[in-house]
Amino acid sequence: SDNITFQNTMPFPIGVGINMGILKRDSKYRAIVVKEYNSISAETAMKMKSLRPSATTYSWSEADNLVKFAEENNKRVYGHALIWGNSLPDWVKNFKGGYPEWKEMFKAHITEVVKHFKGKVVAWDVINEAFADNGDLKNTIWRQKLGPNYIDMAFIFAHRADPSAILFINDYGMEYGNNKRRGLVKYVEGMIQRGIPIGGIATQFHSRVNLEDAKFSRALNEIAATGLKVHISEMEISLNPGSIKSLLLSSLLERQQAAKYEYIVRSYNALPKKQQFGITLWNVTDNDSWVLNYYNRPDWPLPFDGNYQKKPAYQGILNGVK
Ligand code: G3I
Repeated sequence: SDNITFQNTMPFPIGVGINMGILKRDSKYRAIVVKEYNSISAETAMKMKSLRPSATTYSWSEADNLVKFAEENNKRVYGHALIWGNSLPDWVKNFKGGYPEWKEMFKAHITEVVKHFKGKVVAWDVINEAFADNGDLKNTIWRQKLGPNYIDMAFIFAHRADPSAILFINDYGMEYGNNKRRGLVKYVEGMIQRGIPIGGIATQFHSRVNLEDAKFSRALNEIAATGLKVHISEMEISLNPGSIKSLLLSSLLERQQAAKYEYIVRSYNALPKKQQFGITLWNVTDNDSWVLNYYNRPDWPLPFDGNYQKKPAYQGILNGVK
């Protein structure tokens, strides 16, 4: 029936990462977001590349439109992402100056952005993708210029700018090998000991149908063992990880995808209630997913197909909370 939607069924917030260009031009896309989801993230609109045309200017309009859409439709807004080594404007890559200038620029960005959305964005990815596959810190431009302490500093500046925002560290590949996840978890445990105001760990779960179930539950359980909130922040389940150019969608693949989504949702729902920040899918329909462009391959990673219809994956997600 029409009353059975994600937001009416899931016992935790269910979100979607949205593309503001599509939201504006495509009423069917917008209708699904309004009907199904109660939390939204910006796929790109809140990144530094989008918000910061120059070192002295801020371009808020797209991100403000997202917040306005959320207010009009009663959606929670999750902020993505304050500090990342990618999607940087050229002026940052070419920024001159030593430690004091870099620190000032870094602090100003975090402070201005968090203040601008204070009371509107309930939680932030403060740090995005800071860990390497072996569990060490990645040598991003921020680490090069500010040292490993940049992570603690980012959380402190964000917390000062909005003490009520829940502050997350976000990363991908948490479900693949153990090294990266364990490096991140250990690092976060150190942050907690140092009194850094971190409230949660976000695990992206840009994942694939052929990864064993146990890897997802192990990742969720180890992350939750920190006691922090857990956000599955950018989920999709790829059906073509081998990038086969001629692959056709089959009902077998669709059923396998539904089962994988169901297993992940069930594992998440088994975490302590107070740690369940929510699950966010990374865009609306199969045609909108970043995966198709980025890997230049056919793929069908999301719960709605290119004709805006629910796939078996949709039912799989609902089944995960039964
Ligand atoms: O908006 C411009 C458009 O005006 C221009 O004509 C077009 C030509 O390339 O580019 C458009 O911008 C693209 C933007 O997405 C909006 O669609 C950028 O090129 C493209 O690089 C950008 O990709 C995004 C990517 O992050 C980099 O920021 C993807 O949409 C987005 O899904 C992806 O999301 C990331 C998360 O932030 C972090 N975790 C991994 C995840 C997947 O890569």
